[in-house]
Amino acid sequence: MARPAPPDIVRAAYAELTVTDLAQSRRFWVDVLGFAVTHADHKALYLRGYDELTHHNLILRQGPDAAAARLAFRVRTAADLDLAEAFYAALGARTARVPAGATPGVGEAVRAEDPLGFTVEFFFATDHAERLQQRYDLRHGAEPARLDHFNIVVPDVQAAYEYYASLGFGLSETIEDDGTLYAAWMFRKQTVHDVAFTGGDGPRLHHLGFFAHEAHQVLRICDILGSLSQEARIERGPGRHGVSNAFYVYLRDPDGHRVEIYTSDYYTGDPDHPVLRWSVRDPRRRDFWGHPVIPSWYTEASAVLDLDGRPRPLVPQRQPAEVTVGADGFTRLRPGLQ
Ligand SMILES: [Fe+2]
Repeated sequence: MARPAPPDIVRAAYAELTVTDLAQSRRFWVDVLGFAVTHADHKALYLRGYDELTHHNLILRQGPDAAAARLAFRVRTAADLDLAEAFYAALGARTARVPAGATPGVGEAVRAEDPLGFTVEFFFATDHAERLQQRYDLRHGAEPARLDHFNIVVPDVQAAYEYYASLGFGLSETIEDDGTLYAAWMFRKQTVHDVAFTGGDGPRLHHLGFFAHEAHQVLRICDILGSLSQEARIERGPGRHGVSNAFYVYLRDPDGHRVEIYTSDYYTGDPDHPVLRWSVRDPRRRDFWGHPVIPSWYTEASAVLDLDGRPRPLVPQRQPAEVTVGADGFTRLRPGLQ
């Protein structure tokens, strides 16, 4: 029997993270990084970038432990919610309907525990927030514009690629050798990715990627963190990725959740857009300038919660690790934020 058609996914839209000290998280994400607050209550913050019309890109919810509660995708029509429910039911996945308003600013939604172990959400309707693109008087910190992508840690990158291909995602770039897919970048919107895979014990959330318009915003957040003696929050970079061409920096929030601020990736919307395949032995793939990747970037990531809010058990990595054969292995040790 043919599998049900997937929902028409527009893009990665928002993530919910649990944090252990909401006031401390607010200082980092709002006061320092510069996110706009759409809505706040005593349990959670609803944040967005300056370009956003969508109600929020990120929910920070007070919880007992730090974790990624769900990854949410916007779909094109309300009918896509039915398609999402049927698609996951056919996979034997647990699903749940969430009524409109259960998440502030979000209409009815379908949630599922996907085959990779992540809780994913699909929604169509959302309240609009004021677009702050030209409120330069309000912009500060890294001036994040919008959520761009989820990077997830999975034990089997090939399986993750096949699952997201079945959801209608296109492939923009890979890291591979003759027999193994070590990493892949896949998209629905017309950029390099909405989701990317890092090999490792999973499911875990590797990072949330937020787009900034200009390279100086990536540099400035590093200067700000230095001035605040929070330089340990800068985990990796700034640098230039080979994959995606992004000019990037990775930061760690007070709970260790990783966030990437980046700019200058590229358009992928043409129907014959070619896949860019990087050799796992190319030292420019993870950093175009050849800088080594520090161990924590490969080994640390956020736990993932199931539909009931319980931590998902980890499945050990099922393939060779990229860094054991690559040119950017564990060549530089860095003390600090662990
Ligand atoms: Fe990223």
